[in-house]
Amino acid sequence: MRDSWLPYGHQVISEQDIAAVVATLKSDWLTQGPAVKAFEQAVADYCKVKYAVAYSSGTAALHGAYFAAGIGEGDEIVTSPITFAATSNAAVYLGARPIFADVDPTTGLIDVASAKARLTSPTSKKVKALVGIDFAGQPCDYEGLAALAREHKITFIVDAAHSLGGFYNGLPAASQADLSILSFHPVKSITTGEGGMVLTNSKDLYDKLCTFRTHGIEKDPAKLIENEGPWYHEMQFLGFNYRMCDLQAALGTSQMQSIESFVKKRREIAALYRKKLAGSAYYDCIPELKGRQSAYHLFPILVQKGPYATYGEARKAVFEALHAENIGVQVHYIPTYKFPYYKDLLGRDLSAVMPGSEEFYSREIGLPIFASMSEKDVDDVIAALEKIAAALLSK
Ligand SMILES: Cc1ncc(COP(=O)(O)O)c(C=O)c1O
Repeated sequence: MRDSWLPYGHQVISEQDIAAVVATLKSDWLTQGPAVKAFEQAVADYCKVKYAVAYSSGTAALHGAYFAAGIGEGDEIVTSPITFAATSNAAVYLGARPIFADVDPTTGLIDVASAKARLTSPTSKKVKALVGIDFAGQPCDYEGLAALAREHKITFIVDAAHSLGGFYNGLPAASQADLSILSFHPVKSITTGEGGMVLTNSKDLYDKLCTFRTHGIEKDPAKLIENEGPWYHEMQFLGFNYRMCDLQAALGTSQMQSIESFVKKRREIAALYRKKLAGSAYYDCIPELKGRQSAYHLFPILVQKGPYATYGEARKAVFEALHAENIGVQVHYIPTYKFPYYKDLLGRDLSAVMPGSEEFYSREIGLPIFASMSEKDVDDVIAALEKIAAALLSK
C-alpha cells in the first residue's frame, strides 16, 4: 500500500508561472489589463478560433455562452447527464431547463441518436441549444451533433472543460461548435486557479459574451441607444461581474506555454494504464474513438461485476478498497438527473429511461492522472487494482 495519498488530479506550477504572476502584481494592472487580452489571444491562437472571452470560472463561461445563445425563461437545452452539475445549472440560472439525452455506456459521451430522439419528441418544443460534453477529455461527436443542431436550427455548444489539448479530426477541441467553453480549475489541462473561457468564431456572439461578463454595460459609442457625452455608457441588459483578473490571466498565459507537454504527459500516462490493464478480466478502459485525440483530463475505468450481483456493488467495493490503498479515485459523474434538485425541477426521476447513463455511472471510477504523475504512481495504482481484483472480484 502507498504510504501517501495519491490525488486523482493536481496542478503543475513552474517557477516561470510564479514569476509571471509576480510581474503582474508589480504592474499597473490587476484586473482587465493587458494580461487578460494576452491570455485570450494565446488560447484563441492555440485553438484556432477567432474570439476568446475569459471568464471568472467555467461555470460563469457556461452562463455567458447560454446567454449569448439566446437561452432564456422557459427555454430548454438538450445535454448529457454525465458531466459536472454546472453544465445544466447554468441553463437553469437563465430560467431554462435541461432535457437529458442518454450516453454511450462504453464512452460516457452523449449519444447522438438519443439527442435526436429528445429533439424530435413532441414535448421538446422550446429547445434552443444542443450541448455536448467532451467527457474525460475525449471530444464528443462534433460532426453528428453539429448536423443535428443545424437541422433543428439551434445553437451547438460544447462544454470542453475537460478537453483543452484534445483534437477532433485533426482540429483542436473547443474550436468546432458555435460556442465552446473551457475551465481552468486546477485539475484541468492548464490552470488559472479559478477561471474559464468561451470560444467562438462569431463576432455577434463575441460582443454579447463581452458585455454579459461586465454587468451588461455597453461602452462602445456606436452601440449606445443614447449618448450624453464622453463619460456615457449604458447598461442594456442584466449581466454579471464574471471578469477574470490579470493575475489569473498571467498564470494562464504562462501555463499555455506548457499545454503541449502537459497533454503529452497525460497521454503517456494513459498509454501506460492501457498497456497494464490490457486483457484485464475486471477493468475495462474507455476506447479512444477514431479521429479523436483525448486530452485525458480523466482516465476512467469501467468495473466488471465479478462475484457481485450488480455493477454498482462491484464499483463500490473497488472504490472503497482503492481509497483504503491511498489511491484517490473519484466517480465521474453522478448523473445530473439523480440529484434531488433536478428530480424536483423535472418532476420525476429519469433513471428508468437512461440505461446508458445508469450503466456508465454504476461502473465508472476515475483513476489518478495529471502531468506530474510518475511511472511509480501508475505502478502503485495498477498494483492496488490487481490486489483488489484478486481479493474482491475473482472470488
Ligand atoms: C464538464 C465541466 N463543465 C463545467 C465545469 C465548471 O467549471 P468551473 O469549476 O471552472 O466553474 C466543470 C468543472 O469541474 C466541468 O468538469
